[in-house]
Amino acid sequence: MIPQKVTDGIYSYRAIDWDRELFDELVPLPEGTTYNAYLVEGSEKTALIDTIYPPKTAEFIAALKKSGVKRIDYIVANHAEQDHSGSIPAVLDLFPEAKVVTNAKCKRFIMDTLPVDRDAFITVGDGHSLSLGDKTLQFLMTPWVHWPDTMCTYVPEARTAFTCDFLGAHLATTDLYADDEARVETAAKRYYAEIMMPYRSFSKEAVDKVGALDLSYIAPSHGPIYARPPFVLDLYRSWTSDAPKPFVVIPYVSMYESTAAMVSYLTDRLVERGMGVKPINVVDLDTGEFAMSLVEASTVVFASPTVLSGPHPGVAYAALLANVLGLKAKYAAVIGSFGWEGNLPEIVQSMLPKLGATFFEPVMVKGLPREAAFAELDRLADDIAAAHAAAPVAA
Ligand code: FEO
Repeated sequence: MIPQKVTDGIYSYRAIDWDRELFDELVPLPEGTTYNAYLVEGSEKTALIDTIYPPKTAEFIAALKKSGVKRIDYIVANHAEQDHSGSIPAVLDLFPEAKVVTNAKCKRFIMDTLPVDRDAFITVGDGHSLSLGDKTLQFLMTPWVHWPDTMCTYVPEARTAFTCDFLGAHLATTDLYADDEARVETAAKRYYAEIMMPYRSFSKEAVDKVGALDLSYIAPSHGPIYARPPFVLDLYRSWTSDAPKPFVVIPYVSMYESTAAMVSYLTDRLVERGMGVKPINVVDLDTGEFAMSLVEASTVVFASPTVLSGPHPGVAYAALLANVLGLKAKYAAVIGSFGWEGNLPEIVQSMLPKLGATFFEPVMVKGLPREAAFAELDRLADDIAAAHAAAPVAA
């Protein structure tokens, strides 16, 4: 790890994790990630904004020592999750005079999980500030841009906002800035879908709050820094808006090609009616890929064979995720096949109480789909298209 200058008096200390494949044992990391801490040097005091993931602590502490940091007065904890707070005890060992600056919730979480003494904290609230001399730390409470404790820190003199998880991207790269915007957009969208979308309304509020600042840089604690802040703010405005796009996601499994034939037929009929469609075979589900596809989808059609009287476990897992990911989809349906019994549509629908979508009449076939089943799929395609015509979604 080497410190890299962001702007005058602000340095990035990034641990690049090229090899990590899974975050929280849940979220796939196809491009690894970074854990970013930032040193902010004022004329009188020095602050560290966030720390890093515990397994990277040794290289972080070595980099602080090697770069000759003489003092740290404040360790700002924007969020208690240990990929950002985990090195606080080691930094306090090195700079015992430092105070941990955070909000009351984050303080509680840190004390619950790390050996940090109550007396080490300075508690701040929304709009509070601390002077570093010729720089100021201003604190913005932005709850639920991952956990209820999350906040951002703004340095007006440097026109820089430190947003921790918010606006971040799991992307291992030596690029300090998000110059490769196409690559960063994909990583940021995946990150938004997995981490932020379940709390979409809070992300929307946080975009308004951060977007109102005078900004040259947005410096998150995962991924590269945005030297063109409107790039990521505009993406978030689109992703968090209430208006979905005319796009149908079809999570499906097929055991003996009946359900696959139905999915293929329905896809063609929806395309004929002007819809975008993405069938996703969920047998080996990449949860990030699935979540990304749902960010702006208007409609989700769950397609499954009947297994032990209910959905295939892969489709059940997709439904479980769709229920909690905070989708803006307005419409849903269930299609599938069965051999002798089952009430698959009722079971799938019962797994989606939070979706808040209108369910169309399901289409279930016994064995292979034939003429009557295809006619029912024509009807479902008509229902979906008619719903969009009656209440148009964003183009
Ligand atoms: Fe990057 Fe919620 O921690």
